Amino acid sequence: MTKNNSRVKLVLGVETSCDETACAVVDGDRRVLSSVVASQDELHAEYRGVVPEIASRAHAERICAITRRAVEQAGVGLTEIDAVAVGHRPGLIGSLLVGVASAKALAWSLGVPLVGIDHVHAHLFAGSLDRDACAYPAIGLVVSGGHTSLYRMTSPVDLQRIGATIDDAVGEAFDKAATVLGLPFPGGANLDKLARDGDPRAVDFPITRLDPQSLDFSFSGLKTAVLYEVRGVPGKQPPPEPSGSRRADIAASFQRAVVRTLLLKIERALEQHPETRTLVVGGGVSANSELRSRVVGLAESLGVELRVPEIPYCVDNAAMIAGLAHQVLGARAWTSDPLSLPASPVSGV
Ligand code: KG4
Ligand code: ZN
Repeated sequence: MTKNNSRVKLVLGVETSCDETACAVVDGDRRVLSSVVASQDELHAEYRGVVPEIASRAHAERICAITRRAVEQAGVGLTEIDAVAVGHRPGLIGSLLVGVASAKALAWSLGVPLVGIDHVHAHLFAGSLDRDACAYPAIGLVVSGGHTSLYRMTSPVDLQRIGATIDDAVGEAFDKAATVLGLPFPGGANLDKLARDGDPRAVDFPITRLDPQSLDFSFSGLKTAVLYEVRGVPGKQPPPEPSGSRRADIAASFQRAVVRTLLLKIERALEQHPETRTLVVGGGVSANSELRSRVVGLAESLGVELRVPEIPYCVDNAAMIAGLAHQVLGARAWTSDPLSLPASPVSGV
């Protein structure tokens, strides 16, 4: 099934795990030749969250056009593609099935390997796109709408999960806090904007540390604290509707508490793994302005290299899928996954 030639190989990536229909072409030197992302934000905005049935239907309507556009923008023909990669887990099952079926059809018709990629692991490759490879071992932090996990990595494809949220994911906490503050969908980015005008020390929100050695996270208490701050504590007189500047203060204070929690756990992980050479961060929340500026300072003070994705590669995209696929294929001599590759709602680790 594998095409053998000496030129730099090209992987076509497909990503449909949630509400972004995305395709990209990436070469073996981590260069992104094209990355096309069709957001469905406008379809889900009125429901203030992703509606799975609407998402999978929109993927089915868009996937062919997005694939064609990614190949055209890369300036290559479909026959020059050496492998097709697809994010096949975790995610919404109906959405995943559209990408997986499309990738299988493409790989089979082109006679090239098919490779299934774990979406969460791909977020940790996003910071290596269009850059030199980073040094390992690394500590990886994924902060997305569905996941908040810490990994110890000895390569982009050898990862061991060392911590995870025991309740809400950090992106989910951002989205719920944004809803309580009356911000439009998608909440995280809008809360980040509102927080720029607020005082981050106005409200002393809780930082959940868990056990002294724990690398796990918990955000449900913080989410409830924001709810009580805005709407009042049950059984007591409700506070007045917060003014614009009070809402900005609450947003900034919430964001500070989240970022302090994340930094605390990163520091713990680095203490427990002093051999670490690089801190890798990825996922939609890595677009957060406060988190981005604070991890730069932390990495400098701890003397480790830092990999945070460029903004377009923080949220869901297919370039990270294709980029990690090169690593996976390289590690297994470009053999194909079977055409029976399953889609799965849960991550590998
Ligand atoms: O990685 P992603 O696109 O999807 C998942 O794999 O879940 O992450 C989406 C999450 C959403 O919760 C969104 O609100 C959050 O990332 N997000 C942000 C920002 N931009 C996106 N959260 C905080 N600040 C941002 N600037
Ligand atoms: Zn994601």
